This record gives sequence, C-alpha cells and structure tokens, in this order.
Amino acid sequence: MKRAERLMRLKFGIEEPIIIDMEKLSIDEFVDSIEQLPSLPESCYKIEKIIEDPNAGPSDLAAIIETDAGLASRIFKLANSPYVAIPGGVDDLSRAVSFLGFSTIHQIVICVQSYELLGKCGASIPAWINKHALAVAAVSELIAARIDLPFPPKAYTAGLLHDMGRLAIAALFPEAMSRYCEVIEQGGTHSLELELETMGVDHLSVGYELADYWNYPPMLEAVISGHHTPLQTYGEQFGRGPEKLAKVVSLADNWAWQAGATGLPTGNPVPLDKQDLISIQLPLEMDPELKEEVTTEISSRNSL
Ligand SMILES: [Fe+2]
Ligand SMILES: [Fe+2]
Repeated sequence: MKRAERLMRLKFGIEEPIIIDMEKLSIDEFVDSIEQLPSLPESCYKIEKIIEDPNAGPSDLAAIIETDAGLASRIFKLANSPYVAIPGGVDDLSRAVSFLGFSTIHQIVICVQSYELLGKCGASIPAWINKHALAVAAVSELIAARIDLPFPPKAYTAGLLHDMGRLAIAALFPEAMSRYCEVIEQGGTHSLELELETMGVDHLSVGYELADYWNYPPMLEAVISGHHTPLQTYGEQFGRGPEKLAKVVSLADNWAWQAGATGLPTGNPVPLDKQDLISIQLPLEMDPELKEEVTTEISSRNSL
C-alpha cells in the first residue's frame, strides 16, 4: 500500500483500500486554467458602469437585461419570490429592478453568467455540488428575510455562489474532482483538509482566484473565500461590511446540512461560533418548526 493511500485511510476513516493517483494540482495550475476562461459577458460590465453612474435609472438597467431572455426570466423569478413580496407581483423589468436594487441585479447577473460559463467547459458536474448550492441559497434567503437583511435575493445568489470554487474545480479539473468524489463515496468526510489531500487545492482558494479573475464585487469575493472563517478574524482578513452576509451563508450551510438536504451525504457542516452569531443577532439553533421551514424551502427551490 502506498504511504499516501495508507494516510488517507487513517485520516479519513476509509475502510476499503483505495487506489488514487496522488499527484496533486497546485493553485498556479488553477490560475493558469482560470485565465483561459472567457471574461464575463459584456452585459455584466455594462451593468457595473450603470451602477456607478449617478444619473442612471432602473430603465437603463432594464434595457440591458432585456437583451438576454434567460437572464430576464431569472430576475423575474427572484423578484417574485415570497421574500421580496412586491405587492401584486411584478412582470415589468424596470419595476423589478427598482424593487431588487442595482447591486442585487448585478449579483444575479454575475451568478447566472458564471454558472453558464463554467457549464460550457463541458465537464459533468457532480449532482451534489449543485444540490448543495441550491439548498444553501434557499436557506440563506430565508435567514436574510428573518433578520431583515436588505434584499434577501442577494443572500440567495451569494448562497448559490458560495462554493463556486468546487464548481470551478469540477469544471476545469474533472479528474481531480473525481478523485475527491471517489474518497467520499468510500466513506471519506467532506472537508477542506480532504480537498487538499486529494486535489492539492481547496475550494476557498480556487473560488477566490475565480472571483478575482471575473472581478466579482468585494462582498461576493469575501463570501466565497471566507465562509469557513470565524467572524472574529473575518474583518481583519476581508474588511468590514461583508461579514454579515458571509455569516448568513455559513449559517445556511450549517442548517441545510442539519436538515439533511444539502447533497452532502457525509461531512462536517461549516463550524459556527456562538459568539459570532450573537454579535450579528443570528439565531443559535434551529427549533423543530424552523427545521421544517428550512426543509420545505429547500425542496421548493430546485433550480437556479
Ligand atoms: Fe464551503
Ligand atoms: Fe457549502
């Protein structure tokens, strides 16, 4: 038995022998591949310019979105979610933009376009990755609405994107992701440590590189690279401001996992620090009623 293989079995509790080519990737190899990806479509940067233009209004933004039917329909879907509660619903883009706000729309556009570009790499993405992202997105929106965070759809898209690093690894280096999945299937536990052992990189650093390459707003970048970081050290690492959204996403990850609906059959939920949660007035535990609500919400949101 190879030394590395024996170590894997000891560290991750794998019972059956597992043959894995332990050649690992480096973050530089990922950066090289990420740089081969196209930039986000022009519409994303046009929207960024409109956000910065003090004279621009909702109709300017709506005019750009109108040119992409798929994007427009996703915006309507989020604008009509129960957490936005626009009186009478909305079927007009300018009105949807006014209710959701420019930065939420920007985040939705980034999310949709990022998924599309990575999808075009041609690799088949393991189902649990998408299932987990959808579950965390749904619960993030629910929590954001509960604690009156402005624009709950922003929490939804942050939840969809939070493990973008995993999606990027699966899309760009499917063999590395297969190695990881193979260990999971044999009883290994999802963790950053296992990612490093099997692939050589973890989803936080890959996610950060991708967010940087695609010029994500700092708020999203911080969520993607910091959702496993305790809040006490969060400000020093990522600056003040995004920590509340990041903690909403971390809590959603943990709750979705507890509700047994994350697409992760084994693994450790993102650890939560009670003091962190008290400091930003997030509930510490799920009561049975909330657990039911979380489960229902996850099953009702099953597509991007
Ligand atoms: Fe994560
Ligand atoms: Fe996650």
